[in-house]
Amino acid sequence: MTLQIEISGQACGARVTGLDLAGELTPQLVQEIRRAWLGHKVLAFPGQRLDDDALERFTIAMGGFGEDPFFAPIEGRKNIAAILREENETSPLFAENWHSDWSFLARPPAGTCLLAIDIPPTGGDTLFANQAAAFAALPDDRKDQLRQLTAIHSAKLAYAPEGTYGEKDAGRSMAIRPDPSARNTFLHPLVKPHPETGEECLFSTLGYIVGIEGMEVTEAFALLSDLAEWQSRDEFVYRHRWEPEMLVMWDNRAVLHKATGGYEGHRRELHRTTIAAWAG
Ligand code: OGA
Ligand code: MN
Repeated sequence: MTLQIEISGQACGARVTGLDLAGELTPQLVQEIRRAWLGHKVLAFPGQRLDDDALERFTIAMGGFGEDPFFAPIEGRKNIAAILREENETSPLFAENWHSDWSFLARPPAGTCLLAIDIPPTGGDTLFANQAAAFAALPDDRKDQLRQLTAIHSAKLAYAPEGTYGEKDAGRSMAIRPDPSARNTFLHPLVKPHPETGEECLFSTLGYIVGIEGMEVTEAFALLSDLAEWQSRDEFVYRHRWEPEMLVMWDNRAVLHKATGGYEGHRRELHRTTIAAWAG
C-alpha cells in the first residue's frame, strides 16, 4: 500500500489517502502513519468507512487508549466518547478555546482521534495551532525565559462543579461528568521537548493552566495571555474542514486545538478516542 500525503499548505496538517483503515493495520502501515503524524501533527483520512470497532482498532495500533477523566463513554464502549451538539442546542459550544487535551494529567495523552459521524453542511471546523512553529519563531531571549517556567495545570475552570461544564451548565447533550477531582493540579514545563521528535513545543494555554510556579497570579496571567495570543497567530494555524467519513488524529504534544461554531440549526457528532502517552 502506498500512502498519498497531501500537505495542507497551512502551518500543519495533511490529508492521507491510498489506504483502507477498516482493513489490516500492518506494523509497516502503522509506522508510516505514525511517521506522517509526527511530521504533520494533524492527519485527516477522508473517505474511510469506519465503525466503532475499527476506530478502537486504529487507536490501539497508534499507541493504545488513554484515560478520559470527565466524559462518560457512549453506550457499550469504554473508550469512545461522543462530541455531540444537537441541532436545537443552545448551550455554549464545547471546547471553543485553545487547549491540548487533558494537559492537566500527570501523563497527558499523546493524541486524539475524531471520527465524523454527523457533519453539518457548513461550519464546525476545528482549528489547530502548531506549537513547535510558535516556539521556534520566538526571539532567543524569550525562548530562554520561557524554558525556565513551569506551568500549574488544572481542569478546575472547565470540569470542577463550579466550572464551565459544571453544575450551572444546562441543556448540554454531551455526556460530561464534572467532578471535584478537577481541582487537582499538576506541573508541566511551559516548553516541553516532544518525546518522539525532540522539537520544543509550547505546551497548552489558558484554559487548563491556573498559574506559573513561583510567579504572582496577576503576572502569570499577563504572561500567559500574551503568550496565548502568540500561540494562536494565523501563521501557526491550520483550519480543518470536516467531511463525512473522515477520521482525524492529532498530536496533543505539538498542537493546540479548538472547536468553532457556525452550524446553528444542524446536528454535529463525532466519536472520539484518546491515544495514551507514549511509553518510549
Ligand atoms: C476534542 C475537541 C473539537 C471539535 O474532541 O477534544 O476539542 O471541533 N474537539 O469538536
Ligand atoms: Mn479537545
